Amino acid sequence: MTYRILFVCLGNICRSPSAEGVLRAKAGARGLDLEIDSAGTGDWHVGEPPYGPMQRAAKARGYDLSALRARQVSPGDFHHFDLILAMDGANMANLAAIRPAGGRADLALFTEYAPETGATEVPDPYYTRDFDGTLDLVEIAADGLIDYLAR
Ligand code: 4NP
Repeated sequence: MTYRILFVCLGNICRSPSAEGVLRAKAGARGLDLEIDSAGTGDWHVGEPPYGPMQRAAKARGYDLSALRARQVSPGDFHHFDLILAMDGANMANLAAIRPAGGRADLALFTEYAPETGATEVPDPYYTRDFDGTLDLVEIAADGLIDYLAR
């Protein structure tokens, strides 16, 4: 059965679309049956493709994010998805606040799948400008998530 995963960050133009693209590539290579999407808690960039510098850093590692478009997370996502993964604590708090009664999705931090890094959040490269550092962490967490799902 298809397992459904939603990545959530603030703008849905840097961290969560990168996680979506990275996990999709890795899951495809492992033959895992996943539905993968991403969304933002904010609505400023709805309809836009991922941020240019983020797209270029991802492309350099073989991840094409160009077809993705930003959308805002909604309470209904808690009914559709099995697992919702937040990039930082603020995303977690915002998600917890819109979680509907009966919403079945598990909610967790993406960094829980990268315990070896000691990271407690995925830093926002829109502000840090460290797009490669974000991708390093996203790749490690995606590998950890895939190992977990494959077990
Ligand atoms: P993201 O980064 O949450 O990783 O997509 C951001 C991008 C844009 C903004 C905030 C965060 N913004 O406020 O425009």
